[in-house]
Amino acid sequence: MQELFRVLDPGTEDWALARQIDASRLPAHVAIIMDGNGRWAKRRFLPRVAGHKAGIDSVRTIMETAARLRIEALTLYAFSTENWKRPKSEIDTLFRLLRFFLRQELATMMEQNIQLNAIGRIEDLPEGAREELHRVIALTAGNTGLKVNLALNYSGRADLVDAVNRLIEEARAQGRLGSLEVSEATLDGAVSTAGLPDPDLLIRTSGEMRISNFLLWQIAYAEIYVTETYWPDFRRADLLRALLDYQKRDRRFGGLSALERAQTEESNAEEAVPAR
Ligand code: FPP
Repeated sequence: MQELFRVLDPGTEDWALARQIDASRLPAHVAIIMDGNGRWAKRRFLPRVAGHKAGIDSVRTIMETAARLRIEALTLYAFSTENWKRPKSEIDTLFRLLRFFLRQELATMMEQNIQLNAIGRIEDLPEGAREELHRVIALTAGNTGLKVNLALNYSGRADLVDAVNRLIEEARAQGRLGSLEVSEATLDGAVSTAGLPDPDLLIRTSGEMRISNFLLWQIAYAEIYVTETYWPDFRRADLLRALLDYQKRDRRFGGLSALERAQTEESNAEEAVPAR
């Protein structure tokens, strides 16, 4: 939190929100479906790509805020496997913006100790974007702070399919394909986010109540936070509000809270259930 307060002015809204955050109960992994760029632009009578351009500033702010909060991982849904259906001019601009973002943000990533990674079928991205991505991933590989995953040409189903195929391939290479058994732990170790905690908090901007094929395996127990705010307007205060909302949730992972458990043992013991 100290790192965050260093850039906040006392008395501002961001400062007041940050003061309410319990630093000991922050999510380890935040995942975000960045949505509403097109609508943001339309509302301003601007071309859709203007929304994506403005969305870059939100990416920058959220990434830096998460790093200052010492959150372990941030996964951003930047381009889905379905997004190839968009007009070529929009796709080209998105990848040009990605290259611009990577070039511009490298210095901040180094300064903030951020490690960049990409998840998704990266091999199918346009060459220029792919090369820039590999360059920044390599340059930030030694950083030990926030891990930022950019989900690019990503789909949750493809992630699972690729994970299973990886396990099959590995078993075949080791001559143990016949006895291959898949467990939750082996799948966990084969999906794109292997080694990271599952997202605790999934944020979606622009009010849509959908998962849109994002991290299907990993969000099993994520708390979901949907805001009407369009992604280009989603800034530090919005992230802090989402975190405060998350901290009010009672996460039970299918069980009961400690207090509820104690009370339940007592009342269940009192409730006679006929044996048959
Ligand atoms: C969804 O809004 C947004 C996207 C498909 C792209 C997200 C891209 C950025 C925020 C900029 C580039 C990203 C990085 C990481 C540099 P939409 O276009 O579906 O909006 P709409 O639903 O209002 O049409």
